[in-house]
Formats: sequence, C-alpha cells, structure tokens
Amino acid sequence: MSDYDVFDPAALDGRTRYQLLTSIVVPRPIGWISTYGEDGTANVAPFSYYSALSASPLLVGVSIGHRRDGPKDTLANIRTGGVFCTNFVSQDQLEAMNQSSGDYAPEVDEFEVAGLERQDADLIDAPFVVGAPVVMECRVYKEVDLGDAPNTLIIGEAVRIHVDSRIPRVGDTQFLDTTHLDPVARLWGPTYAMLGEQVQIPRP
Ligand SMILES: Cc1cc2nc3c(=O)[nH]c(=O)nc-3n(C[C@H](O)[C@H](O)[C@H](O)COP(=O)(O)O)c2cc1C
Repeated sequence: MSDYDVFDPAALDGRTRYQLLTSIVVPRPIGWISTYGEDGTANVAPFSYYSALSASPLLVGVSIGHRRDGPKDTLANIRTGGVFCTNFVSQDQLEAMNQSSGDYAPEVDEFEVAGLERQDADLIDAPFVVGAPVVMECRVYKEVDLGDAPNTLIIGEAVRIHVDSRIPRVGDTQFLDTTHLDPVARLWGPTYAMLGEQVQIPRP
C-alpha cells in the first residue's frame, strides 16, 4: 500500500494549487505565441498551458492568465485580432523565450527585447519568430471562459504550418524526425527539460 500525502484542491489556496499542478503535469510543451497589438506593436510570450487538441480540424489550446489590471497582452491581442502564431521553442532559443516572458508594457516590442527577428505570417495578421523550426498560423476557433480561474482558454485552428525544410521526415510520412528537433519542455517555475533518449514501443 502506498503512502500518499492527500490534497483536496478546493481547500487549497491558489498558489498551492498552482505549485502542485505545474509540477504534476510535466513535462509541458511551450507554445510561444506571437501577435500584433491593435497599434501594430509586435508581441511574443511563452505559455506552457499549451497542448494539441485535435488533428481534424487541427486545433491547439492555450490557457492565458489575467493580470490584476486586465488580460495579458497576448490575450488582448488575440481578442482584437482573432489570430496568433505558435512558434516551436528549440534549445537554441531558450534564453530568448525566457526574455520574452517578462511583464512588459503593451507598447513594448518583445521581439526587440529578446533580440528576435520577426516575419509576417502569410495568411493572418501576426508576426512569427524567424528561426523557429516550426510555426503555425492560427485563427481563433473558440474562446472558453474558465470561470474565476482567472484564465481564458483560447482554442486556435492552424490554417498554415511552416516546417523548416531541413528537418527530416520519418520515411515517406510527415512525422517530423524528432531526433532533429530540440524541444524544450517546462517543468515547474524556472525549471526546464530537454529531450533525452527516444524509444519506440509498437502498439499491441
Ligand atoms: C515557460 C513559461 C511558460 C508560461 N506559461 C504561461 C501560461 O501557460 N499561461 C500564462 O498565463 N502565463 C504563462 N507564462 C507567463 C507569461 O509568459 C508572461 O505572463 C508574459 O509576460 C505574458 O506576456 P504578454 O503580456 O505579452 O501576453 C509563462 C512563462 C514562461 C517563462
């Protein structure tokens, strides 16, 4: 019989729930989300409440918190523009990703702060990170209010995907050969994980 510490989330304060959740659901992929503000300011920030939701249609979800004085810039921009790009975070952009997570004023271009080059997406009015191995151009599919979380879940549908053509595919499929991607995953707080050994286990 295992010996567990037992928690009832409803009886915990928000900080403790956050500490538990973000060290239990690990490792989390990072959606590095880039948008334009209403005034044209470019914005990019990382989000690890981020996941694949569906392939058909191709949906991703990102849960964005609110500050005391209102929504984070990413959420405000997504609400006004209805679009965003997700940029794959590889190890060589870990430092820039971290720089871009600062609490900067809406008029600050976080590409400049983080020393990143940007390019305009093809189909939507959003910038993306030049050098990111994969970029998805997304339109908002649904916004889901998560109550007094205070987080808002944005579900985006990818309408165009850019994959660095140097990344090999597996055989004649479009699986990206993940041994050639160097993803960074979020653990808790300032702690990250890199991919270690990759194993293949055939399904029963
Ligand atoms: C690796 C990492 C993951 C993060 N994940 C989230 C997240 O899932 N949701 C969130 O609201 N903030 C998250 N943050 C914090 C935001 O990046 C931060 O609040 C940022 O300033 C938001 O920028 P914005 O105001 O330009 O949107 C994360 C930060 C880091 C470094």
